[in-house]
Amino acid sequence: MISKTTIDKVFEQSLVEEVVGEFVQLKKSGSNFKGLSPFSNEKTPSFVVSPVKQIWKDFSSGKGGNAVAFLMEHEHFTYPEAIKYLARKYNIEIEETQVSPLDKEKASEKESLFIVSDYAKDFFSKTLLNSNDGKAIGLSYFKERGFSDETIKKYDLGYLPDKLNYFSSEAVKNGYDPVFLEKSGLSIFQNEKSIDRFRGRVIFPIHSMSGRTLGFGARILNNQLKTAKYLNSPESLIYNKSKILYGIFYAKQEIAKLDNCFIVEGYTDVIQLHQKGVMNVVSSSGTALTIDQITLIRRLTSNVTMLFDGDKAGVNATLRGIDIILTAGLNVSVCSFPNGEDPDSYSQDKSYEEIDDYLKNNSQDFIQYKASILASNSKNDPISKANTINDIINSISIIPDRIKQEIYIKHCSSIMDISEEVLFNSLAQKTKNEIHSISKKRIAKVQKTSKNKEVNLLFELEKKIIEILLLYGDKKEKFEELILKNDEDGNVVLEPTIVNSLVYEKIFLDLQQDEIEFTNESFKVIYEKIINEFQKNQKLILEIFLNNLNQELANHVTGILMNEDQYELHDWLSKDIVVKHKDRVISQLVSETILSLRTFLINKKVEELKEETKDSLENDKILEEIGEYHKLKTLLSKKLNRVL
Ligand code: CTP
Ligand code: MN
Repeated sequence: MISKTTIDKVFEQSLVEEVVGEFVQLKKSGSNFKGLSPFSNEKTPSFVVSPVKQIWKDFSSGKGGNAVAFLMEHEHFTYPEAIKYLARKYNIEIEETQVSPLDKEKASEKESLFIVSDYAKDFFSKTLLNSNDGKAIGLSYFKERGFSDETIKKYDLGYLPDKLNYFSSEAVKNGYDPVFLEKSGLSIFQNEKSIDRFRGRVIFPIHSMSGRTLGFGARILNNQLKTAKYLNSPESLIYNKSKILYGIFYAKQEIAKLDNCFIVEGYTDVIQLHQKGVMNVVSSSGTALTIDQITLIRRLTSNVTMLFDGDKAGVNATLRGIDIILTAGLNVSVCSFPNGEDPDSYSQDKSYEEIDDYLKNNSQDFIQYKASILASNSKNDPISKANTINDIINSISIIPDRIKQEIYIKHCSSIMDISEEVLFNSLAQKTKNEIHSISKKRIAKVQKTSKNKEVNLLFELEKKIIEILLLYGDKKEKFEELILKNDEDGNVVLEPTIVNSLVYEKIFLDLQQDEIEFTNESFKVIYEKIINEFQKNQKLILEIFLNNLNQELANHVTGILMNEDQYELHDWLSKDIVVKHKDRVISQLVSETILSLRTFLINKKVEELKEETKDSLENDKILEEIGEYHKLKTLLSKKLNRVL
């Protein structure tokens, strides 16, 4: 694990504007920077970076966070990957904390496998581009397949001549440990002799999401040979076939941007489409799609389009894939290619526009696809036809959108040659239970709207408290406490006393005293975390704090913090909308907010009690209680008036 000192150093030294600036063109705007959102295709900038607060906020998508969050969001790095990236950028030495010997061994084995794979990747590429055999055989093969020099370099394509150990002997000579050469599957050792696994093949390195070499696929050059067309790296600590998508490193940005991911079967399909300009493509590399692979995609988009061969194997793979993708909760479409063609062969002699047109015109929603496939299989057999219809109706009943359902029913009716009425009836039967639960939800919703106004005020007050804590929690302020005392005549009076205290302490103690709890779940968690942090460290370093929040909470926090920047962004001031300056009097703001919250809650309590008296036998007691609350309310409004 990366040590805490390293992480702290990384946070201290990295500047969010510098980190973001590498990926987004930023322009100075007041105290902030502005740019076009890298997460959507927008024309007017709504992406803001605050150097003062060291955070960014994307108002078009609602995302926001610190430098690390940006890298995780934009580059799809994991947390440690982002820290390592920043450490490299700012020349910070990475200190690893003590780990168990077993973990250490595993980590170093992984690292060694990465190192040897990286060496092999460069070696194969050099052999392809520089050696005589490489140029004559490997390179001309790729050229024949229509790959440009640029594409070949970008994908690090390589070659190994058909010699026993051209690579392995060189690797050993250069000090690479035979143990890792063997574990990575690059070399096979027999009786002290080494053999190159990928000899006589062109080679496709397989990259991780963050661009590291995990393994290889290698293709024979001569289709007549009676060996497997492709050889892949064996499973190892770094290469797990079922968790890898070929091409994801080069595709991730486009997938997120276009909000769609094409899945193809082969290495060459990815490369060919990419070269043609269709860049949101990955390949499952001939294996049946797995949940792990779909999980990789889910970080980028929830829309998947499968581009599979029109042959029988392709259809079966597609049907299986559809179920996996649906299980993972993603939307899936299918685009078939003419029999005998795959995306690579189809695209060879076409322009980007032609390919793009084909993909657009031939993509079907999975139900349309299923309907047409099943229909063509079962046209003449009544029993299997009935099964098919049931199967389709089942799928349609899952779709939440009623209008879509109707469209599919109509579509199904026409291709299956059965009346819409029958299909609708069958659908109605399947959705009956569901409808019941929907109407229940609707009633609940109506009841809720009448309470909406109330909820909004409470929401705003709770949000305000979080905002104050985040911005001014560690400030020492003078608060005027009105302390309840009995005067000489025994009357209760308020005596003003000036108390110095930290803003967070004041809020914490006041809320605790009244046993006030946040009603908004996110705010509740954020509040607890903030107080915790202050109690531990007396201060709150925003970028570190943000880091301990999940994405949803971080989005909330950045949203709150950037609120004032949003005003600036929309230039509200010039539209004559006055935005109060928040620094004006912090203590006043704090007192006002807490008192408003108290007043609100007391009013609510009174209402509830009144409601109770309607059907209660203990009316007197309740009325008495209401009286107490009214007294309290008067006191509070006195306090509040003093503050305002
Ligand atoms: N594959 C494999 N091992 C094989 C055959 C195929 O791993 N023996 C994987 C490869 O990732 C391959 C994918 O399955 O890219 C699809 O196989 P196929 O359609 O047969 O190959 P293509 O990708 O079309 O390859 P090419 O165009 O080079 O023939
Ligand atoms: Mn092919």
